[in-house]
Amino acid sequence: AETMETFYREQFQADLEAFDISEKLGFLLEEPLTNLPDHYGVWMDLANNLTHLIETRKLRDLVDKMPVLMPDILSTNRELRLAHLVLGFISMGYVWQEGRQAPAQILPKAVALPYWLVSSRLGLPPILTYADSVLANWKLKDPDGDMQIGNLDLIFSFPGGESCRGFFLVSLLVEMAASSGIVVRNGKLSPSEFNQFTHCAFYNGREIRITEFVLFLDHVDPTVFHGTLRIFVSGWRDNPMLPRGLLYDGVSNEPILLSGGSAAQSSAIQCFDGLLSIEHEDETRTFVTRMRDYMPPAHRQLIETLSDCPSLRHFILYNSSIDLCQAYNSCVSALVDLRSYHLNTVTKYIIVPGNRAVGSPLRGVGTMLNTTGSGGSNFVVFLKSVRNSTQKSLISKEASVSRETEM
Ligand code: HEM
Repeated sequence: AETMETFYREQFQADLEAFDISEKLGFLLEEPLTNLPDHYGVWMDLANNLTHLIETRKLRDLVDKMPVLMPDILSTNRELRLAHLVLGFISMGYVWQEGRQAPAQILPKAVALPYWLVSSRLGLPPILTYADSVLANWKLKDPDGDMQIGNLDLIFSFPGGESCRGFFLVSLLVEMAASSGIVVRNGKLSPSEFNQFTHCAFYNGREIRITEFVLFLDHVDPTVFHGTLRIFVSGWRDNPMLPRGLLYDGVSNEPILLSGGSAAQSSAIQCFDGLLSIEHEDETRTFVTRMRDYMPPAHRQLIETLSDCPSLRHFILYNSSIDLCQAYNSCVSALVDLRSYHLNTVTKYIIVPGNRAVGSPLRGVGTMLNTTGSGGSNFVVFLKSVRNSTQKSLISKEASVSRETEM
């Protein structure tokens, strides 16, 4: 038994490494760096003062005068992740400094070229992703303290003050809560059952919690979110303000289309879907799958590995005990609750403030915002479809009873 345990432990460590997952923090980047080598001081100065430079409308001029620095000196993964985050914040600030009506059409070479090179080394697209702004954008105020909202801070911010801080940090807490579902703490199944359907060492969606999500209401003001913060996470795909995309000077002669940052890029939620064999409808699936291109490749790989495993739902439906069936259903219900709650939040943060903006000078813009999320999908239809397909995966009593009589 001891050798088996050692075997599982080693296998588990290998999986954590292969999928770039922290045992403690799941998909969050552990102890992100907060500073780059001195050579990149100009980037750091801009990113550290970003809010001020955007508000005083000085950022674009400073970026236009910036020298082109090649990212060759950067070597470790954490350095590259920080560089991607820094260049992402600078790019968003540059494009949206003048508001939604006057986006920059061209990203200058001094940002575009190094951003492109760093991105291709990481396998991420050259735009600010959830993996940057949430997973790699945090630090502890007191390094010996806990990871709770009072002791957490962002490395970089956009205008929007406390609401900006709350927006990214609450997402981080949701992600942290989800990590206990991603990383096995206590396999509650017997080893043989466990073996049959988990090729990799990841199981247990039971602890997906929405309590962290509820914190949103305390920390993010809907009007600030809608009117200020959202602009800076907007992308240039399916965006009427940049219909052809953004030109990356020194990289490509054609503009490039890329979606803005959204928690739809969270690997955790897609892992749960994969693990629980939850299948989404066609159009929805296309969007969800496209969001994988915005995740670190190792995380994307985990979702694909989980989705390729023999169906857990199928296994439970036909081969196993009532207990397992209940455990499965409680996982799925947790995900249904999360998605219902999310829909409510979206109404509070996008639809209600959008309606209030009617009659204001922002009206046309507000209407557009009402129908597209930052990732660019028609989000209410989309979010309902995702929630409903989750609900449909619940195993009904009838199904389990008829299965018993078959046996
Ligand atoms: C103010 C708060 C939030 C708003 C307004 C919001 C809005 C949206 C919108 C509009 C979409 C549709 C896709 C898109 O257009 O990008 C979406 C998708 C999604 N959001 Fe949020 N979101 C919020 C917070 C969160 C948080 C904290 C999480 C948890 C990590 C989350 C997780 C997701 C996921 C996983 C999807 C993809 C659909 C799914 O798998 O259910 N969102 N969100």
